[in-house]
Order: sequence, then C-alpha cells, then structure tokens
Amino acid sequence: MRGDGMQAAMLPQTSFSRFAHRVSAALRACQFTAPSAGEARVIVFDSAPWWPLRDDAAGLLCAYEANRAARFRHALDHDTYTVAHAFWRVALGVVMNADPAEVELTRSPNGQPLLPGSGLATSLSHSGTMVAVAIGRGTAIGVDIEGFPSRTSLHDIASVLCSRREAEAMSMLDVGARSRALLELWTRKEAVLKAFGVGLRVPPSTIEVDAGSTIEPPVEAAGASACRVFPLAMPVSWLGSLALSCDIGGYSLHHV
Ligand SMILES: CC(C)(COP(=O)(O)OP(=O)(O)OC[C@H]1O[C@@H](n2cnc3c(N)ncnc32)[C@H](O)[C@@H]1OP(=O)(O)O)[C@@H](O)C(=O)NCCC(=O)NCCS
Repeated sequence: MRGDGMQAAMLPQTSFSRFAHRVSAALRACQFTAPSAGEARVIVFDSAPWWPLRDDAAGLLCAYEANRAARFRHALDHDTYTVAHAFWRVALGVVMNADPAEVELTRSPNGQPLLPGSGLATSLSHSGTMVAVAIGRGTAIGVDIEGFPSRTSLHDIASVLCSRREAEAMSMLDVGARSRALLELWTRKEAVLKAFGVGLRVPPSTIEVDAGSTIEPPVEAAGASACRVFPLAMPVSWLGSLALSCDIGGYSLHHV
C-alpha cells in the first residue's frame, strides 16, 4: 500500500551533514514520504555501503546512542549500529521536518523507542548488516527482520517460541518448511512484542500472532494497543514482519 499526496523526502536547510543529505536523497529515490494519519512507512537497507560515512553519521547521534556505539568491540557492530541509528534519525527528520540530530528520540524503561508528543510511533530492527526502520502516524508499531536460514537452531527453541497449538501445527511440517515457518513466527512475535513495548520480557510462547487477526496485549503490556501483524516482502535470505496498532491501516515498504 502506498500513501499519496506526499511531502518529498527533504530535510530542513539547517542540516549540513553529508550523511544526512545522502540518505535523504536515497529516501527520495525510493519514493519515501512522510506518512499521513493512519499510515506507516518501512525502510529496509543494508548498512554496509554506508560505513565509509560512519564518522559523519556519528555526528547525528545523541549522547546515549554515541555511548552505546562506543561500547561495541567489533567494528562491524559499531558501524552497523552507528549507520542504523543515524539513518533512522534522518528518516525521522524528514517525517518531522526537523534536523536529524535534534529529533527527540527517547526510550521507555523497557527500551521501546518513543517520539514524545509527535503522534508518531517508530521501531528499529537490525540483523547482521541489514536494518529495518518503521515509522507510523498512530499509536504503536513494531518491526523485526531476521536472516534466513537462521544461524540459531530454531527447532531447539520451538518450546520457548510456540504456543501448544502452534507447536502442533509446526510438527506437521517437514524439516525445511518448519525452519522457515518457525523463523516467520519468530519475526511476527518479536514485531508484536515490540509494538506492545515489552520485547522478550513476555515469553513468546504465551501469545499467538496469526497474520491479519487482531492481537490483544498480554497483561504484562496492559494499556498497550491491540495490533495486527503483516509479513514484509524482504530481499532473498531475509524474513521480516511488521506489527501495527489498529489505528494504522496501511503501510508502504521502501528498499533503499
Ligand atoms: C526488543 C528485543 C526483542 C529486540 O531484540 P533483537 O531481535 O535482538 O534486536 P532487533 O535489532 O530486532 O531490535 C532491537 C531494537 O528494538 C528496540 N527495542 C528494545 N527494547 C524494546 C521494547 N521493549 N519495545 C520495543 N522496541 C524495543 C530498540 O530500538 C532496539 O534497537 P537499539 O537498542 O539498537 O536502539 C529485545 O531487545 C528485548 O526483548 N528487549 C527488552 C527486554 C530485555 O531487555 N530483555 C532481556 C533479554 S530477554
């Protein structure tokens, strides 16, 4: 689904970051625009081609993000984190018509990203060098991506992931189909638990997340909005899901 009548992916003239201007040009090229009420946008990109601009990207991070980036031991993790968060800030800057470095991106005590007073919800996922950013004009959003096949044996964690009914359905599948179905289920549950703001504090086996149906929040997320979850069309070797609160009716996907 695509929005219409949209503001082009432009940043305010006050932003002089080379990284920010390159990213906003890339967002324009993939038709990214600010979501209207009840709409969401998802951006999927590989962070690796942006690593040469890591120093410039780092200039957009807040003190919290810069501290977290500095704690990574491996350059790959540091650069992916830096580029992912700077890219996220540029996309938010475009949507909010704000300097990316000035976007007020905070976190709940559980780690959920928040944009106070904006009417926007946002979510981030990274797996390897791949990154997904989701921004919705509505109450809640959650995104999760994973590389497929998974490096972790999902068969071993099926009991943590699946409800009894889901486990029974999985047991009917052959090994190859089960691996894919388990990872798809994993991304759906993580996306929903992110939209609820609790993440893996809620055991995934305790919720069921059928695609398209309305999912009520568990008691641990009392007060969160019910949501629905959708599969994302990802590049080969990737799977992803998007959870949207029920006041967000549509989304568009932008591959940079
Ligand atoms: C949210 C969570 C499921 C994501 O795990 P993941 O698949 O390894 O990582 P992803 O890249 O897909 O997502 C990470 C992003 O989710 C977001 N996130 C973290 N906690 C979140 C929460 N409670 N709700 C919504 N989003 C959350 C953050 O933006 C984070 O990125 P950042 O830390 O780089 O800013 C996991 O971090 C979690 O459950 N956190 C909260 C509970 C917790 O700390 N549990 C301890 C381990 S059981």
